[in-house]
Amino acid sequence: MPDQDTSGSLPVWSGVRTGPLQPGERVTLTDPKGRRHSLLLTAGKTFHTTKGGIAHDDLIGGPEGVVVSSAQGVQYLAFRSLMAEFTTRMPRGAQVVYPKDAAQIVMGTDVFPGARVLEAGAGSGALSCALLRAVGPTGRLTSYERREDFAEVAARNVANFFGTGSTAPLDSGHPCWDLRVGDLVEALDAPDAATAVGPVDRVVLDMLAPWECVDGVARVLEPGGVFCAYVATTTQLGRTVETLRAHTGFTEPEATETLVRAWHAEGLAVRPAHNMVGHTGFLITARRLAPGVVAPVKKRRPAPGAYGEDYTGPRREAPPAEAR
Ligand SMILES: C[S@@+](CC[C@H](N)C(=O)[O-])C[C@H]1O[C@@H](n2cnc3c(N)ncnc32)[C@H](O)[C@@H]1O
Repeated sequence: MPDQDTSGSLPVWSGVRTGPLQPGERVTLTDPKGRRHSLLLTAGKTFHTTKGGIAHDDLIGGPEGVVVSSAQGVQYLAFRSLMAEFTTRMPRGAQVVYPKDAAQIVMGTDVFPGARVLEAGAGSGALSCALLRAVGPTGRLTSYERREDFAEVAARNVANFFGTGSTAPLDSGHPCWDLRVGDLVEALDAPDAATAVGPVDRVVLDMLAPWECVDGVARVLEPGGVFCAYVATTTQLGRTVETLRAHTGFTEPEATETLVRAWHAEGLAVRPAHNMVGHTGFLITARRLAPGVVAPVKKRRPAPGAYGEDYTGPRREAPPAEAR
């Protein structure tokens, strides 16, 4: 069952469940060395560790925040998985958006309860979970995924995260999610895109070539709406930024990278952790201008050579001399 509000029967679609642990829920076990293990509770099943098994039935029906022991007496802390743990441990088709980036995307695009959001590609559904939680029960997320096998994985993951109970292929059972198998570029280029895809308040693209969507996104994104692309490489970043700039219907794009460094804090040994996630991706955001409005030309001159003879990518036309 989807999560309920505290007053009664209204599903709030947070993906958070309370009360006794149930079969089908994902639980994180933490061992004495701080290592985390993820398991999907299944009646009668055993989670095997090098120090003996742990019966899922020891957890099912009880509270979370408890200590369970393996057959050889090693103790594990057991909690329901948080969304960040769930999305990094769930089955994958495509590579998922890391939690640090999903958090930045939700804040950077200012996704709000009730928002209409367009996403591509759905991949494994990790970012879809974060976006669905952010838009809430009155919002709408339309997600395109061109690979049917990936879309099926995404649908299962979203169904499990929100506890809808749906097992139908490509149907997550989430009433606010419209998962479509198809190519977003083609959908945006179709004559009926303005009504079949849009209008939308936010666009979030995690796909190989987001620049191919810029013209189409401009047709469905409301003025003031936020465009966001998450890309893995600098070449994708440059191409997306230049395409947005050349379009002229968006604000000057902003590009960021998010680095999260854990800290070790023990007595006098307070220092950064030795390991961290080095690289995931870059975020590019820009806002849609009103129809017919052209973004003012940047006052600062490009760096010498930025658009030299080696540069072959998209470029905004030079404005007439009187406008400079
Ligand atoms: C990195 S994955 C997305 C992962 C996803 N955000 C998540 O957190 O699970 C990129 C996905 O974009 C899909 N894709 C690439 N180009 C596409 C397009 N033009 N239309 C729809 N999906 C596309 C790919 O099939 C792939 O599944």
